[in-house]
Amino acid sequence: MKLLHFSDIHFGLEDPRAIAWAADCVAREKPDAVVITGDHTMRARRREFAAAVRWISALPAPVTVGVGNHDLPYFNLLERFLDPYRRFKGIEALVERKLDLGDLVIVPLKTTARAQPRFNWSKGWISETALDHALAEIDALPEHARVLVASHHPLVETGTRGTALTRHGHRALEELAKRSKVLGVLSGHVHDPFDLTAQTDFGPVRMIGAGTLSKRLRSTPPSFNELIIDGRTITVRARNLEEVATIDMLIDDVPENALPPRLPGEPVATVGHVPEIDPPVH
Ligand SMILES: [Fe+2]
Ligand SMILES: [Fe+2]
Repeated sequence: MKLLHFSDIHFGLEDPRAIAWAADCVAREKPDAVVITGDHTMRARRREFAAAVRWISALPAPVTVGVGNHDLPYFNLLERFLDPYRRFKGIEALVERKLDLGDLVIVPLKTTARAQPRFNWSKGWISETALDHALAEIDALPEHARVLVASHHPLVETGTRGTALTRHGHRALEELAKRSKVLGVLSGHVHDPFDLTAQTDFGPVRMIGAGTLSKRLRSTPPSFNELIIDGRTITVRARNLEEVATIDMLIDDVPENALPPRLPGEPVATVGHVPEIDPPVH
């Protein structure tokens, strides 16, 4: 089974060459599904959502989408508080959020919030309701099912230049680790691809992140991930416009004792590549 994983297209500041290339890859390669892990727009403007709807509608493959922090109203605070996902629902109406591909199911996990008790609301937040909803979806599936969880923010830090600082992410990771159906978590937000295994007290969880197809670049060119799934094995390849090696994806062996940069209260993840960390620019 082949999936193409796109993220952070940010219509309004999309890279036209990158999205034309990505759409062309879908048309030529006919993947079993396309997973888009949020930040469809730049500022949740109506014209940005309209462009996203046009582009996604034209993809000749089943598509599942998740909501990113940029998809909540930015300028209209009243709407942000009263009906934060109204504009996003225009995209959601086009596709299934939970995508059932036989015995592989993509289950969304919402990591955005209309408000947070901290200054930066762009960071990840997993409410109890959102986690319970995703876990209930997983638990309702038959024992032989394989699950990929799709969230916008990585659940824990991944050593990329951008940060997610997802609150309650470690708890979510532990709950997912307890469930053998879960093959991994697909995310975006940090605009650079990554592929690592996070360790929890309940076992490891594979975390896979796609880069961006926008002009908001961090360390790597515009890219998306190709996932080949064979049984419980996932082979990930970050594919970029420039056909240059993507340094974050070049680590094929992770030392057992590798440690990422760690903030107080943040869980420990095992990563293979720890790039220089700059102040977050998201
Ligand atoms: Fe983004
Ligand atoms: Fe984001």
